[in-house]
Amino acid sequence: MASPASTKDDAPRDGPRPAQPNPAAHTPDTEHEAAPPNPFAPPDEAEGTATARPRSLFGEILDWMLAPLLLLWPMSIAVTYLVAKAIANGPFDRALETDAYVLARQIHPVNGVATLTLPDVARDFLGSDNTDKVFYQVLGTRGELVAGAADMPLPTEDDRPPPGLVEFRDETFHGNDIRIAYTTVEFPAAPPCEDVLAHPSGALCGAASGQAASALVQIGETLDKRSALANDIIKGVILPQFVILPLAIVLVWFGLSRGLAPLTALQANLRARRPDDLSPLDALRAPPEIEPLVTSFNDLLTRLAQNIDLQKRFIADAAHQMKTPLAGLQMQAELALRQEVSPEVRHSLEQIAAGADQTARLVTQLLALARAENRLSGQVFAPVEVAHLARLAVREWVQAALAKQMDLGYEGPGEPVFVDGNPVMLREMLSNVIDNAIRYTPVNGRITVRVMAEPAKNLVHLEVEDTGPGIAPAERPKVVERFYRILGREGDGSGLGLAIVREIATMHGGTLTLDDHVYQTSPRLAGTLVRVSLPVHAPAPDLP
Ligand SMILES: Nc1ncnc2c1ncn2[C@@H]1O[C@H](COP(=O)(O)OP(=O)(O)OP(=O)(O)O)[C@@H](O)[C@H]1O
Ligand SMILES: [Mg+2]
Repeated sequence: MASPASTKDDAPRDGPRPAQPNPAAHTPDTEHEAAPPNPFAPPDEAEGTATARPRSLFGEILDWMLAPLLLLWPMSIAVTYLVAKAIANGPFDRALETDAYVLARQIHPVNGVATLTLPDVARDFLGSDNTDKVFYQVLGTRGELVAGAADMPLPTEDDRPPPGLVEFRDETFHGNDIRIAYTTVEFPAAPPCEDVLAHPSGALCGAASGQAASALVQIGETLDKRSALANDIIKGVILPQFVILPLAIVLVWFGLSRGLAPLTALQANLRARRPDDLSPLDALRAPPEIEPLVTSFNDLLTRLAQNIDLQKRFIADAAHQMKTPLAGLQMQAELALRQEVSPEVRHSLEQIAAGADQTARLVTQLLALARAENRLSGQVFAPVEVAHLARLAVREWVQAALAKQMDLGYEGPGEPVFVDGNPVMLREMLSNVIDNAIRYTPVNGRITVRVMAEPAKNLVHLEVEDTGPGIAPAERPKVVERFYRILGREGDGSGLGLAIVREIATMHGGTLTLDDHVYQTSPRLAGTLVRVSLPVHAPAPDLP
């Protein structure tokens, strides 16, 4: 009966590994506190650190690029607003300045008193336009109102500009924000005030006789035109940003994806590997930033390969050492069976002989597997004629097939087909496949060993097809693993045969495929087609 127990050994390879005692996990708390948490620590060690799963590199970089960008955006809008306001103030300030000059030039001293002689056209001109209200004010040298609005805000005495120079300030007037341009107009020395008091309209006089005095001219306007212009400038600057910003995000996204492409390629490379492929990654093809990571990973692979090699060598050595005592055990059991013994002892001896035989086969299989896996031994391949090899294998197994009343046949090409290989290994491979076919096909079955060249692909297919129970598609990837046997299947094998076949096929640059039989038709059973495809040796050497 097939032994499901044999699959147990495989479990740790595919599933999670059992927790190993970890010295680091038992270090005193003080040491734990001192060491920084390691996010890559094995699960049992990392448990205490309760680290959340690190975020994706892509998301992290994107966040760190976009978050400052989105923070800077409102700041740039604020700065744009201030700049736009300053730009908008420029032309309107110039116009206001001109108005202030024009107004100032219209102030003349009449009998020593500042008087504004403003033509009607100019008064209209100083009136409000469609958008803004304009206010003006002329104050005489003593601060008396000469013309305009009486309650316009005044500059401080220190802020008064020298005559001929216009200055600006912002004020609030009648609930409106206004911009005021103001200047002073100098008048010649004022007469003494007592003279002026005698004057009927006299208002202009100096505190001290002969002292120059100045009149104040102010013209202000509300800010609607300026705000409109500033808003237009901001709109002109900001609106395109609503298109540019999403575009920038898309470009950053695209750039990041391109930038992280080598990591994706590395991941694809690792995923595409066979589980037992421990060859180093090409660190020189990795970008400089991840080259140290690849180099460390390669170091790990090398150490792992060395460990696995050690284990394989140990198994091979152990198997080799067991061969002789097992042969001795078998021989002794057979010798003892020739003696007159009680039926119970005979039964025990038979069991011992059968067990020794089975174990001897296991040992042989283990050695074959170790040989097939040891690809570092620098195998020198020679051209091997596989059709001849297949015929020899059929001849070797014909007796076993006849014992089960089976029809073991051969189909092959007329001309020889060569592959580069090791004839002993290839023979071992065929033997395992034919052994399986005979072992698992019920009596009266039919087995065909076939050699078929496919020149278009430069391949030769070695096929063994039987009319047995077949291997279900779901089981096919598993049966090629070591020590895997299909539950409930007959036979006392160890589950190494197809693993050996796959290793030998791989070491010859070939592939192993399992299929239902395709050429034969069986009324009852699915049948199995085991196909090993090997590259053809080219050019074919001349036959001796
Ligand atoms: N031709 C076949 N028909 C049906 N089942 C097969 C066939 N070849 C292999 N199997 C199934 O695949 C399993 C694995 O085969 P494999 O040759 O690796 O191991 P085994 O025959 O059990 O042991 P070993 O060959 O090491 O003595 C077998 O146990 C059997 O169930
Ligand atoms: Mg087998």
